Amino acid sequence: MSKGNKDTIEKKRINQFGDYEDTSEMSCSDWNERWKKEQTQFHVPKVHPMLEKHIDRLTDGKTNLRIFVPLCGKSIDLKWLADQGHEVVGCDCSETGCKEVFERDNIPYTNEYRHNVKSKLLKATDRKLSLYVGDFFNLQRKELGEFDCIWDRGSFVAIPVTKRQEYADIILSIMTNETRYLLDCFKVDNTYFGGPPFNCTETHVKECFDTQCRVEKIDDRDALTKWQTEVWKVDTFLEELYMIRLK
Ligand SMILES: C[S@@+](CC[C@H](N)C(=O)[O-])C[C@H]1O[C@@H](n2cnc3c(N)ncnc32)[C@H](O)[C@@H]1O
Repeated sequence: MSKGNKDTIEKKRINQFGDYEDTSEMSCSDWNERWKKEQTQFHVPKVHPMLEKHIDRLTDGKTNLRIFVPLCGKSIDLKWLADQGHEVVGCDCSETGCKEVFERDNIPYTNEYRHNVKSKLLKATDRKLSLYVGDFFNLQRKELGEFDCIWDRGSFVAIPVTKRQEYADIILSIMTNETRYLLDCFKVDNTYFGGPPFNCTETHVKECFDTQCRVEKIDDRDALTKWQTEVWKVDTFLEELYMIRLK
């Protein structure tokens, strides 16, 4: 195929939102545009089945843990984890999404600006739930501290592929020898489907984490629904769950 033809096909890749805009390098403002248009079909309106299934593996049956949820959107998982007594910290660039987490359950919260990480911090006043509204790539260990657990769904696979190592380095910086990091990924063909999500194999996960971590695939399932077949036009969509721990 000539380069010209290939470029034409690549430009025409459909994205998760059902249009042909190039989504391979989405910035926070690109995501916020999607939020404004209510294009949040990625949201799961219940506790995520993989989290529910593997919660004991994530927490090791312990209580009062610190749990980080990167690129949390308006996930139901945040309140579910906080209601179990854990301290939950999330981050998303969407203020709409973060506010919804508090407002849909009438959770009172405060709002302050954290200059260090160029983010607003929304903090529940009746439980241990805090969300940073801002760019994940501005977060630092000295602001966040360390976490016992990390729950990552639709996050590592949503950032541009070129930023995976930078993302991994921030995650690695907030891990300790005890941290249990559950990473939920997808295998998907991005030849004609432009993402996100972006295809993530065990090799990709290991490329980012293997030097410092043990990476173990602990579950998988066929995650194909009508959204994938009818909008994304893909015929396979496999979800894979990894447990990642420092060596
Ligand atoms: C596919 S959604 C997944 C949301 C959530 N994890 C869930 O399972 O519903 C990806 C989320 O990442 C957020 N996001 C993308 N890039 C970001 C960045 N650089 N910093 C913070 N949030 C970001 C988007 O606003 C969006 O809510």
